[in-house]
Amino acid sequence: MTAAEQQISGGFRAQFGGPPQVLVRAPGRVNLIGEHTDYTEGFVLPVTINRAVWVALRPRTDGRFRLYSQNFGATVERAGNPEPLVAGQHPEWQDYVLGAAWALREHGHRVDGFDAMIAGDVPLGAGLSSSAALCVAVCFALARAFALPIDVRRLAFYARRVETGYIGVQCGIMDQMAAAMGLAGHALLIDCRTTEARPVWLGLEARGIAIVVADSALPRTLAASAYNQRVAECITATDAARRLFPARAIATLRDLQEDDLPALARALPETLFRRARHIVTENGRVQTAVAVLGHGDVTALGGLLNSSHVSLRDDYAVSTPELDRLVTLARAVPGVLGARLTGAGFGGCTVNLVERTALAAFQERVIDRYRAETGRPATMLVCRSANGAAY
Ligand code: GLA
Repeated sequence: MTAAEQQISGGFRAQFGGPPQVLVRAPGRVNLIGEHTDYTEGFVLPVTINRAVWVALRPRTDGRFRLYSQNFGATVERAGNPEPLVAGQHPEWQDYVLGAAWALREHGHRVDGFDAMIAGDVPLGAGLSSSAALCVAVCFALARAFALPIDVRRLAFYARRVETGYIGVQCGIMDQMAAAMGLAGHALLIDCRTTEARPVWLGLEARGIAIVVADSALPRTLAASAYNQRVAECITATDAARRLFPARAIATLRDLQEDDLPALARALPETLFRRARHIVTENGRVQTAVAVLGHGDVTALGGLLNSSHVSLRDDYAVSTPELDRLVTLARAVPGVLGARLTGAGFGGCTVNLVERTALAAFQERVIDRYRAETGRPATMLVCRSANGAAY
């Protein structure tokens, strides 16, 4: 047992009396490239990181839920069927736990009440998928505790269903698949149409390169509504593309190519065209990223990160002045190969490829300087890649 597991197990005994029946870890993730492409069935390339959520759980037979969060130092007790949040209701940590029971029941699985203790060190609400890690950990724990024969991919779907059906965020499948199936030393190339997932060897450590996450310390308050708005814009752009190319089977923006962009530019309103252009070019960048990783060309990979940021800022409009500032400061540091916002945007973090010899300079010339300029308590995290919950 790791120290974290001993700690949560001990906490469970103290809180609930007796040991947990199952103990599950699910990691957060940083997305290397492929942003906002998952809900249009495109390609993404996340890396699971050495920050995780742990769930210790014991099933009950009386339908009650007793939940304790070590991070919030809070207990919640409930009975009866959990019900999805209503529009505008702000989700609390326990909603992701109860939502997992709801999602499994929605699909006909027999899940009774349970006692659960939650702990984790994924920074909350920073764009490193703390909520997906929590949902995946609880879904895995419930499947084990109630002996439900559900495969890993399906569990990732149920974890996503918590977000789309219970919480009310129309997210894609990237974060949950990563938390479930990521592999240490690798990024995970996910084709979000087929949900095929292939580990791609990173080889960054041997090249002296670190993946650095810089947290802007900007709360993502508008993230959910702005996110859902982007999802809706993509659907509208897809409808317009179908009218433009009636002979083609266009299920999502995934079905458009760079060659289509001039015609789309003429037919679509400017904003919708920009949204579509981001998706099309970002899918291309993911494919290129996988190819350059194959050759170990980290300079080219850095360039792709930089272009991704420009596209997210100008075409997809999910950046903020703070994230742009972090990226600009990073790019001015010798030894930083690339920088971009990561996750949904509207605050949260940037991901940076940094030569290890430049880490001190990164702290000083990006983090400290940003703090001085904005007064926001930015932090940096040098990530190690880690295994997903399935391993
Ligand atoms: C959030 C969502 C993901 C994905 C990213 C943007 O993390 O949960 O499904 O859409 O934003 O790439």
